[in-house]
Amino acid sequence: MTGPGPADLLGLADYAARAADRLRPAVRDFIDGGAGEERTLAANLAAFDRVRLQPRVLSGAGRPDTTVHLLGGTWSLPLGVAPTAYHTLAHPDGEVATARACAAADVPFVVSTFAGRTLEDIAAAADAPLWLQVYCFRDRTTTRRLVERAQRAGYEALVLTADAPRLGRRHRDLRNGFRLPAGVAPANLPADAYDAPGEHALAAFDPALDWSVVEWLRSVSNLPVLVKGVLTAADARRATEAGAHGIVVSNHGGRQLDGVPATLEVLPEIAAAVPGTCPVLLDGGVRRGTDVLAALALGADAVLLGRPVLHGLAVGAESGVRHVLGLLGEELREAMTLTGTPTVADAGPDLVRPTTTPP
Ligand code: FNR
Repeated sequence: MTGPGPADLLGLADYAARAADRLRPAVRDFIDGGAGEERTLAANLAAFDRVRLQPRVLSGAGRPDTTVHLLGGTWSLPLGVAPTAYHTLAHPDGEVATARACAAADVPFVVSTFAGRTLEDIAAAADAPLWLQVYCFRDRTTTRRLVERAQRAGYEALVLTADAPRLGRRHRDLRNGFRLPAGVAPANLPADAYDAPGEHALAAFDPALDWSVVEWLRSVSNLPVLVKGVLTAADARRATEAGAHGIVVSNHGGRQLDGVPATLEVLPEIAAAVPGTCPVLLDGGVRRGTDVLAALALGADAVLLGRPVLHGLAVGAESGVRHVLGLLGEELREAMTLTGTPTVADAGPDLVRPTTTPP
């Protein structure tokens, strides 16, 4: 860790502030910004801010067990790293550093299609459970090749991003005319990928994807497929009917359609709509251990972290991400003890005061 040590960094908000000081303004805006007027971005955070947990005293839950079993794997914490493009924007080690931190924390890392390091380098760097996030391109061969490489390199699941047939209008990036700095590029895509993420997406993404893509993905690998970007109970049911092995309740961190609900708001109805055998993950606005516990209580099996991981990278490379994940784990254990929640499976809706639950 460079600069002031972790004693000054007591929570993920401290990492966000420190990263904002360190990153070039246009890069900071690319990471921290959202679509439109950023109402959904703000709503993700506000939904967690509204939650009040019910403490339970004298519960005996002094040593809570945070282990979780999902998709045939066992992780030490009910959280993982969400796919975010170009970790090399935050630190030159990029996804290699993130993978090492995930291995140390024993949590999965969902590697973006737009990773800045190769799938193989990331896999060789550490023994973390790796999943590949898939953007489906007009040119299916590009997507198929990526999936095949991931499978060969030992990746354990595919996460199909379903909420981005086109890229959201991100005002900060448009104002900044954001382009990738020299040295940052999609390491796993053909070299003709453009350096302006918006242009590339418009040119390359398949704008007419439908549910048949789940079956197609299942046909090109034997990895489980999760659908990311689900925000309604109806789509959650469709995802399972289409053959998905899990879903990620996500609004892309408020970066796609501004005005869609906060993920925590819609989580209970979505969790109720899918069979218990279908894992439900959530991302968007998770910044504290109490947020993780609230999401578990309202129906998530695990959560994914987006921006805080990039903040950790920007502040301290691998050790920064280790510390971010460590802080969240420690805060979760504290919250489980003080709410009398001995295991992850014990987190239920009674943990959240009903008046503070999103409508
Ligand atoms: C993203 N996200 C994203 N999602 C995805 O499926 N593929 C991707 O390449 C990216 N890239 C990306 C870049 C950056 C800079 C951010 C901030 C986000 C969305 C990401 O997976 C996740 O849904 C959100 O980041 C979760 O919200 P929080 O934790 O950032 O609030």
